[in-house]
Amino acid sequence: MSEAPTYSPGLAGVIAGESAISCIDVERNKLNMRGYDLVDLTEGGASFEEVAYLLLHDDLPNAGQLAAFCDALTVERHLPDPVVQMINAAPKSAHPMALLRTAVSSLGYCDIEAEDNSHEANVRKAVRLLAKVPLAIAAGHRNAQGLEPVEPRDDLGLAANLLYMLRGDDPQPYAVDAMNVSLILYSEHGYNASTFAARVAASTLADMHAAITVGVATLGGPLHGGANEAAMEMMLEIGTPDNARAWVMDALESKRKIMGFGHREYKSGDSRVPAMKQAGQLVLEATGEDRWRQIAEIAEETMLSEKGIFPNLDLPCAYTYYGLDIPIPLFTPIFVASRVSGWAAHVIEQQDNNRLIRPNHNYTGPVGRTFKPVDQR
Ligand code: SDX
Repeated sequence: MSEAPTYSPGLAGVIAGESAISCIDVERNKLNMRGYDLVDLTEGGASFEEVAYLLLHDDLPNAGQLAAFCDALTVERHLPDPVVQMINAAPKSAHPMALLRTAVSSLGYCDIEAEDNSHEANVRKAVRLLAKVPLAIAAGHRNAQGLEPVEPRDDLGLAANLLYMLRGDDPQPYAVDAMNVSLILYSEHGYNASTFAARVAASTLADMHAAITVGVATLGGPLHGGANEAAMEMMLEIGTPDNARAWVMDALESKRKIMGFGHREYKSGDSRVPAMKQAGQLVLEATGEDRWRQIAEIAEETMLSEKGIFPNLDLPCAYTYYGLDIPIPLFTPIFVASRVSGWAAHVIEQQDNNRLIRPNHNYTGPVGRTFKPVDQR
């Protein structure tokens, strides 16, 4: 008789599936992505496109495969008219994550292969989503600002085009490098909440766009991807490095969660943080604005000394994006632009060898009640 499964709040520590895409090596504090150490990819100068290819296939591309992949992304860099109309009709006050969630869903009903869950169609849909999500983010932002959309350029990669389409001017090399590193670091992270949610949807044989829409919706929460925006709002509220320690101590006193800190898996620090701090340094040196990093550093010292809790990727990413003049409400949408690669890889893996994900639960409600008609209750 197999051991009765036990319940763990928040499924902490529960093995909920098998995957060959990535795993967090907590002992060595590294992220293994299809056999590569994630930090080797950023330090080796990989492009986000190379990492997205690695996730969607099962190894890094050679020169010919990378060129074909980038060409496929370029060809797909346009939005269907119904999606453009939806974006332009949305309230200008709509949060960019709500708009993006709807845009991904509407990309689904415009995709000619929407209902085809075959491996090949799923890979093609993943490429279309990778190409179109940055356009939806930029178009929504420009529309909300009352600005005309900026068409992507064929000579720019995904990181550079994202910056170009948001601002309409040539992005600085340091900005492209920092964005590229952040997209690689955000791309994939095992069975996190939004990826698991996408796998659950995919396990019902809901299509790729439905599963990615579920991922976007799940990532938006401040305990998950929304933390990068919340962390920047926290740093703005702190205002100066001199205020940082007292602010954090006060927040801890009132049992508040400090955004950008802690992680369900990592207990001695998020393996992605050093690489993001390094990328952020490029931006701070170029812009000369070091205040937010200093605030983050003091918050980090305080959280470590008071709670033994380390920062996660969202903290250094937040002040880096702020240093790139990216509006705070676009921080999590940019996380989406990257994580589409990881989510799609998991949807493909789930549907290639599927079993419906349907766990059980401990019932904690009443039993044995007798029904009485409403006039007797
Ligand atoms: C992401 O899973 C992934 O891989 C996610 C992600 C990815 O790439 O997909 O890495 C992206 O979501 C990173 C996390 C971003 N979220 C935040 O920064 C929000 C703040 N963090 C916390 O809410 C918390 O750390 C979580 C949600 C991230 C993890 O929570 P857990 O594992 O459920 O831990 P917990 O909430 O049970 O905390 C354990 C203890 C508690 O203290 P006690 O009640 O036992 O005294 O640690 C404390 C918590 O209060 N704690 C914090 C804290 N994180 C944990 N206290 C203050 N501030 C925090 N940030």
